[in-house]
Amino acid sequence: MKIVYYSGTGNTEKMANLIAKGIVSGGKDAEVVNVSAAGLDIFDNEDVVILGCPAMGDEVLEEGEFEPFIEGISSKISGKKVALFGSYGWGDGQWMRDWQERMESLGCTLIDDGLIINYEPEDESLECINFGLKIAKE
Ligand SMILES: Cc1cc2nc3c(=O)[nH]c(=O)nc-3n(C[C@H](O)[C@H](O)[C@H](O)COP(=O)(O)O)c2cc1C
Repeated sequence: MKIVYYSGTGNTEKMANLIAKGIVSGGKDAEVVNVSAAGLDIFDNEDVVILGCPAMGDEVLEEGEFEPFIEGISSKISGKKVALFGSYGWGDGQWMRDWQERMESLGCTLIDDGLIINYEPEDESLECINFGLKIAKE
């Protein structure tokens, strides 16, 4: 399974690595890919799309790299299962609610509610690991 993420200060990256740990515990393989290194074809042969991005701007996705990546894969992910996650700061998670709606409107099915963590996840965050375990069952 492939996890594509953006992270400015490492919090969402830490979530990505913990989710990968959960996926591996669940018996699947997991590859964590920074969005800057992800081609737009990365999910072409995948049933499950796993995406991580923190709340940025004013409750939006990061606009330099991550937003263009989502734009680029939007026409190709209808029918796929999607898991979303990301770190946030002072907001209330609005960016994630909007992002979930957007993915559903593209024809994706959410595996679970997007996982949001305030700033840095704990070193062995069970929320993240269990999210990965759940994804591994798909
Ligand atoms: C430019 C910028 C904009 C941000 N905008 C929001 C926001 O709208 N809502 C919010 O809850 N947090 C916001 N944050 C806080 C980040 O979501 C938070 O610091 C998060 O942990 C960053 O994750 P990262 O370490 O993966 O980059 C913003 C941070 C930055 C740097």
